[in-house]
Amino acid sequence: MIGCILKSKIKVLYTFLFALVVSFGALAQEASEQADIATKGVTPGATEGAEVSGGDPAVISAGEALFKNNCAVCHSAGSDVIVGPGLQGVNGRHSEAWLIKWIKNSQSLIQAGDAEAIAVYEEYSKQAMPSFAFSDDEVKSILAYIESGQGVVSAPTEGPEGATAGENVGTDAIGAVGGYLDIVLVVLIVVLIVLVVTLLLITSLLRNYLNKNRTLNEYDAEVVNQRFDFSKIYKSKAVRTLVVLIFVVVVLDLTLDKVMGIGIQQGYEPKQPIAFSHKLHAGEHQINCNYCHSTVYKSKSASIPSANICMNCHSQIKTESPEIQKIYRAIERNRPIEWVRIHNLPDLAYFNHSQHTQVGGIECQTCHGPIQEMDVVYQYSPLTMGWCIDCHRETPLNTEGNAYYDKLVELHEESSKGAFTVSSNGGTECSKCHY
Ligand code: HEC
Ligand code: HEC
Ligand code: HEC
Ligand code: HEC
Ligand code: HEC
Ligand code: HEC
Repeated sequence: MIGCILKSKIKVLYTFLFALVVSFGALAQEASEQADIATKGVTPGATEGAEVSGGDPAVISAGEALFKNNCAVCHSAGSDVIVGPGLQGVNGRHSEAWLIKWIKNSQSLIQAGDAEAIAVYEEYSKQAMPSFAFSDDEVKSILAYIESGQGVVSAPTEGPEGATAGENVGTDAIGAVGGYLDIVLVVLIVVLIVLVVTLLLITSLLRNYLNKNRTLNEYDAEVVNQRFDFSKIYKSKAVRTLVVLIFVVVVLDLTLDKVMGIGIQQGYEPKQPIAFSHKLHAGEHQINCNYCHSTVYKSKSASIPSANICMNCHSQIKTESPEIQKIYRAIERNRPIEWVRIHNLPDLAYFNHSQHTQVGGIECQTCHGPIQEMDVVYQYSPLTMGWCIDCHRETPLNTEGNAYYDKLVELHEESSKGAFTVSSNGGTECSKCHY
């Protein structure tokens, strides 16, 4: 009799587990297929393009990156006119030498009276194309990319969207990584459910078994059959004290954070006079940060672009938008746009962008967060002294191929086992950051 009940219960348990495993297997497979599609999506375009032209795929993909960063806002690689003409077949329209000169500095070519340049300029309602400080090889790689015809396949017919078509693939790949995290979460939840159900089944099995087994005395029977009593937990002194303690600690922690945080502006996100979006410009349209913040690799401060830089594009793009008209009004009145400053160190501290971006090779996002995803910029890092120093202690200096450091690294290795960090080079001395 008992054996019979036991068997049927165990059957239920196994059927349940089996169903779970099967459905979970299906789930995982579906997710990994999706991830596959997302990652593979990145490559086929690149290889196809290379076959079409027979060009060096590395050069073409370098050209593609340059094109998307610098040209795609105004040009399609196909035949559509965005701000400038579609560049398909441009290698046939002009000589390579001319194209190199034009792309580096179209205005100087026009001013020099080059007839071909003037004709192009006149045709496109005298819109000036910006200059680019590229090497000849870089320009050639862009031309190779255009000639490969690769941009044409992916570019949809509508204007500026061409710039976005390629990028979506990248976000999908990132989505795939997020997908894996989701899978891990689902696995954990399923495992927890299985555990709870198994435990419940086991208790019920045992209770049934012991009840059928009539050798129990009264006291044992009571213990075996007792139900879980929540009010007991609630009434227990120990539990109450614990709850009060946790509450006090949380409140203390929050107030301490607030007190220590006076003067710290992390998360500061003021409303700006024009609804300018980094997500749209730096994210979707992939405009380089230093197209607008043009001094960030060269000097102490990263400049905020003047209205003229906006006009490079907005004399043509979205001219009807009320937000864009604000740019025109600023220019008419000859007044700068009054952007609200977000990041601001106190005067006593010295911070230099080029030291970090150019020399240190640190990405903007390390300090400023995912700017390319922000519609409105906010201060991502605390910008405290502790924040600066922590990074200087942890970050190894890039000393390779720099003779200046050879002797210093040697000395450092004699006295210490750790890496040669910014702080080993004196990056935590007060005078480095304080005047
Ligand atoms: C701000 C918009 C803008 C950007 C960015 C831009 N161009 Fe242009 N481009 C133009 C305009 C407008 C013309 C038409 C000529 C003129 O008015 O100066 C043009 C013309 C050209 C021409 C001549 C086309 C023809 O059919 O004769 C070439 C080649 C060219 N651009 C290449 C590039 C390359 C390569 C890049 C990126 C490195 C680039 N452009 C970035 C606006 C731009
Ligand atoms: C099309 C021009 C443009 C591009 C491209 C651009 N920015 Fe900006 N950026 C601005 C303007 C305009 C402001 C001031 C308005 C605002 O804060 O949104 C600004 C503000 C900022 C600020 C805040 C400055 C402050 O007041 O403290 C940071 C940080 C920043 N940009 C970083 C970046 C990074 C990183 C990139 C590249 C991923 C980038 N920007 C690309 C135009 C641009
Ligand atoms: C290299 C080209 C380029 C530059 C430089 C540029 N933008 Fe844009 N901007 C664009 C493109 C492309 C769009 C998207 C247009 C669309 O959605 O059709 C856009 C859209 C916008 C919009 C949204 C308009 C609307 O109503 O949808 C605003 C606002 C804007 N830009 C402001 C600025 C400001 C301010 C600057 C200067 C700091 C600037 N842009 C510089 C290319 C540029
Ligand atoms: C090592 C950290 C770090 C990196 C990397 C970094 N920034 Fe900054 N950024 C700062 C700090 C700190 C400030 C505030 C400077 C001040 O108030 O003097 C700032 C301020 C700014 C500002 C406001 C204007 C100014 O100069 O005060 C802009 C715009 C900006 N950063 C853009 C960029 C861009 C674009 C990049 C990448 C090319 C970048 N930053 C990389 C730390 C960094
Ligand atoms: C993300 C890491 C990081 C952060 C955050 C950071 N730094 Fe740095 N800093 C570096 C690196 C890396 C270098 C070394 C660059 C090189 O010389 O290769 C450096 C160099 C410096 C130097 C030059 C040091 C020397 O020996 O010449 C100064 C000054 C400096 N940082 C100030 C600051 C200040 C002020 C802050 C905070 C507002 C800050 N840094 C935040 C990484 C960082
Ligand atoms: C890597 C850069 C860096 C180094 C090294 C550094 N500081 Fe600072 N310090 C800062 C920054 C940035 C601030 C501003 C932070 C803020 O406003 O919270 C600051 C703020 C301060 C302040 C003002 C604090 C306040 O609350 O206003 C004092 C005092 C100070 N530092 C002393 C020192 C001394 C002493 C040393 C040497 C032992 C030193 N600092 C080394 C970056 C540095």
